[in-house]
Amino acid sequence: MRAAITSVAGYLPDDVLSNADLEKMVDTNDEWIRSRTGIEERRILKDPTKATSDMGAEAVKTLLEKRGIDATEIDLVIVATVTADMHFPSTANLIAHKVGAVNSWGFDLSAACSGFIFALTTGAKFIESGQYKKVVIVGADKMSSIIDYTDRTTCILFGDGAAAVLLEPTESHGIIDHKLHVDGNGANFLRQKAGGSLFPPTHETVENKDHVIWQDGQPVFKAAVKGMADVSYDIMQRNNLAPDDVAWLVPHQANLRIIDATQRRMGLPKEKVMINIQKYGNTTAATIPLCLRDWESQLKAGDNIILAAFGGGFTWGAVYLQWAYDTH
Ligand code: UT7
Repeated sequence: MRAAITSVAGYLPDDVLSNADLEKMVDTNDEWIRSRTGIEERRILKDPTKATSDMGAEAVKTLLEKRGIDATEIDLVIVATVTADMHFPSTANLIAHKVGAVNSWGFDLSAACSGFIFALTTGAKFIESGQYKKVVIVGADKMSSIIDYTDRTTCILFGDGAAAVLLEPTESHGIIDHKLHVDGNGANFLRQKAGGSLFPPTHETVENKDHVIWQDGQPVFKAAVKGMADVSYDIMQRNNLAPDDVAWLVPHQANLRIIDATQRRMGLPKEKVMINIQKYGNTTAATIPLCLRDWESQLKAGDNIILAAFGGGFTWGAVYLQWAYDTH
């Protein structure tokens, strides 16, 4: 038995933060941002009373509506995020409560930009075991809550958003293979320094702006180009997939140049790559399911799809799946 994605939905806040807006906030310009990253605008959740779970809950509500099932049927909710509403309870708890998934349990999974493919792989195991029939995987991040909008090297990159997929058992198609990696040395190049048990919040950590994303861009870029391209190529090789066999690459949307390098390594034409980075920027755990949502109407049952990601940690990997349904 395999696990298949049987529905996909997303939520994006209405407020747009364009490159022109950022030009007024930091020393940057539209040309630099477009040429170095591919990003034109991103969405920001401005309502200070709303958090990651609110975006995730909206995505899950739409997901269930589309599939025509009740929240009480959900067995498990896994939320990939690095911007949990609070350290505890988990965002999965809060989302399950907000959507009325009273028969479900759940947990958060922390793998930064690879969070969605790590969570998808984990959720698939509960379906493959035969134990569960309906598992919801959410990728959601309110990145604006951990960005320093005076740091031009990071504030141009990220946006807020959420998306979710439903996993159900299937005899054919579904998730076939995964190849996932971690390397803790990556913490030296990309991290949120304070707020955890190593450096709990103090006046000093707040004054030093240690609660926001800190990144040394160049080494992360180099590791991402190699990591995402290699793992995507490897998963094609070990599943005997030639470029013609692959219908779609669904890459994490961190930088257009990283996506281009992966596409070239896989030998795919540009038309087979889902790219929406220009509209949403890097929404961390939400990028891949947001692509699936945006391209859902073009997907056909049996399409060979490779999901690929690289992110903080470092974390990286690829998932090979066959799409399970035609959209009507
Ligand atoms: O998804 C999570 C994982 N993260 C990633 O995958 C991100 C990986 N890294 C990257 O995507 C790229 O490294 C960045 C987009 C972050 C930066 O691009 P880059 O081509 O690596 O630029 P750089 O850091 O080497 O900076 C080049 C120049 C520097 O100026 P000097 O030293 O050459 O005078 C920077 O100060 O560009 C400057 N710069 C900017 N200029 C205008 C840095 N940020 C900006 C900016 N606007 N926003």
